Amino acid sequence: MTVAIKLIEDADFQALRAYVYDTCGIALDNSKHSLVSGRLQPVLAREHIATYREYIDRVRADTTGRLRSELVDRLSTNHTFFWREADHFDFLARVALPAVIGARRRAQSKTLRIWCAASSAGQEPYTLGALAMEALGVDYASWDAGVLATDISAPVLERAREGIYDNDDVQRLPEPLRKRHFDRLPDGRWQANRRLRDELTFRRLNLMSPRFPFKQPFDVVFIRNVMIYFDMPTKLALMDRLAAVMRSGAFMFIGAAESLPPDQRQFESVRPGVFRKP
Ligand SMILES: C[S@@+](CC[C@H](N)C(=O)[O-])C[C@H]1O[C@@H](n2cnc3c(N)ncnc32)[C@H](O)[C@@H]1O
Repeated sequence: MTVAIKLIEDADFQALRAYVYDTCGIALDNSKHSLVSGRLQPVLAREHIATYREYIDRVRADTTGRLRSELVDRLSTNHTFFWREADHFDFLARVALPAVIGARRRAQSKTLRIWCAASSAGQEPYTLGALAMEALGVDYASWDAGVLATDISAPVLERAREGIYDNDDVQRLPEPLRKRHFDRLPDGRWQANRRLRDELTFRRLNLMSPRFPFKQPFDVVFIRNVMIYFDMPTKLALMDRLAAVMRSGAFMFIGAAESLPPDQRQFESVRPGVFRKP
């Protein structure tokens, strides 16, 4: 049996649109009434909420952030997979990590900080952690290195912390990485091994936060396939906040379908999707 979609009224759609833009930076197209209705109707049914107006009021009043997190989950996509846009990982391993590690060594510092700023279910940050371990080799243990993985969505972060993935997904990783950093589980799935999991910290963070709460600057930032939801003014302001938490010479990676605002002055282009703070 198909359930008829109750279309959101335009006034409620505009209120919702303004809310997700202000709180999450997501710029919803002005014609997405039926998409929004289709994705939110199950939530209204589950929560026994009669109207979209009441739903918006409930999301606003929800101090736990649970409803807002679910709203973002439903309006954006958490889709991710291992080794996505593979040339980024190749460039990271061949060029970017050796460059930043060399710079840290010359500065006589043994810190290496990597931020995965829209980590979704963890495939991307575990890969970054594994590549950092590979790049430092036996020296890794004597370095203060690690990956901070953040996302606005609490459910994906929970999955990411577990680090358990289907066989098909993990097969995308080059075999040496898979063998060294993942364990096969009895049910055929794979889990990031304990050593790798210990190198990652998962935190909930909204990229629209006015200031990022980090004390140490980052050497590498992956912020891929999230800015696609943001409009130019939002991206421009985000560039300032990102640059403020990155070291000079740090690399930033963005998704293949994304671009930086043409008038940003914080980063110089290195190659498609890769930028560097001068
Ligand atoms: C398509 S996934 C990208 C995952 C991974 N970076 C990749 O490229 O495969 C987009 C992620 O951005 C997150 N997201 C959306 N808006 C956000 C915001 N304002 N702050 C932080 N994360 C956000 C979503 O929850 C989702 O997990």
